[in-house]
Amino acid sequence: MNVAANVEGKHILITGGGSGIGAASARVLSARGAIVGIADLNEGNAKTLAEEIVASGDKAYAVAVDVTEPAQVKAMFDTALSHNDKIDVIINNAGIDHFPAPLTEVDDAMFMKNIQVNLAGVWYCMKNALKHMTATGGGHIINIASVAGLRSAPMISAYSASKHGVVGLTKSAAVEYARANIRINAVCPSFVDTPMVQGVLSKLDERGQKGLIGANPMKRLGKPEEIANAIAWLCSDESSFMTGQSVVLDGGMLA
Ligand SMILES: NC(=O)c1ccc[n+]([C@@H]2O[C@H](COP(=O)([O-])OP(=O)(O)OC[C@H]3O[C@@H](n4cnc5c(N)ncnc54)[C@H](O)[C@@H]3O)[C@@H](O)[C@H]2O)c1
Repeated sequence: MNVAANVEGKHILITGGGSGIGAASARVLSARGAIVGIADLNEGNAKTLAEEIVASGDKAYAVAVDVTEPAQVKAMFDTALSHNDKIDVIINNAGIDHFPAPLTEVDDAMFMKNIQVNLAGVWYCMKNALKHMTATGGGHIINIASVAGLRSAPMISAYSASKHGVVGLTKSAAVEYARANIRINAVCPSFVDTPMVQGVLSKLDERGQKGLIGANPMKRLGKPEEIANAIAWLCSDESSFMTGQSVVLDGGMLA
C-alpha cells in the first residue's frame, strides 16, 4: 500500500474538477482512497469522470456549479454534505484565462470575467468552506493560483491580477484561521498541459508555441499529474505545519 501522502477516507471537494489539473487531482486522490466531489460548470465532464472513478472501484460524485453564483456555491456545499457529513479539503481550482494581449486590448468584460471566476469564485467557496470547517473543527483549503499570481505576467494582466488576489486571500485567511485548525495554502503552477493551455497554443504561431512551451528551464509543459501529486501531499496530514504558503511547481521558472 502506498502510505505517502495518505488521503484515505478524506472527503475532498474540487471545483473545476471536470478537466485538466482538477480532473488529474480527482483521479490521483480517489485512487489513494479519498471520497472526491467533482464540481464543475461543465456538468457532463464532471459526471463522466465521476462515473469513470466509481467504475474503477473508487469513490466520487459529480456536482454542477457556477462558482460565480453564490447561491450555486451554497448548493454545491449542500450536495457535498449530503454525500459525507464533513468536508476535509476543498480545492478551489475552477478558473479561466484570456488570450495574451497588451492591457489596453483586453476588454473590460474579460477583465471582470477573470476576476469573477478566478477571484470571486474562490472567495465564495472560501466563505462557505470556512463556516463549515469552523463548525466541524478544522480542514484545509487549497487555492489553485499560478506563477502569474506571484510575479509579472505580461500580456495576461487580468488573469495575473485575479491570481495575485488569490495569493493575497490565501495568506490573509491562513493567518485569520490558523487557530481554528484550518490550513489555507495556494498552488502556483507555470504552464501545464491542459485544455486551457492547449486552447492558447492552438491560437499561437510556431514561434509563440515554442516560447510558451520553453518558458521554463526544463523547456517543457508540466503534466497535470505532476501538479496533482503535489496537491495530494498538501491534502495529506504530512503537510500539517504548512499554512499561508504558495507551492510553486514551475519547471524552475521562478528560480
Ligand atoms: N494549465 C496551466 O498552465 C495553469 C497554470 C497555472 C494555473 N492554472 C490554474 O489551474 C486551474 C485549472 O486550470 P486547467 O489548466 O486545469 O484548466 P481547464 O480549462 O482544463 O479546467 C478548468 C475547469 O474549470 C471549470 N470552470 C470554468 N469556469 C467555471 C465556473 N464559473 N464554475 C465552475 N467551474 C468552472 C471548467 O469547466 C473546467 O472544467 C485554473 O484555476 C488555472 O488558472 C493553470
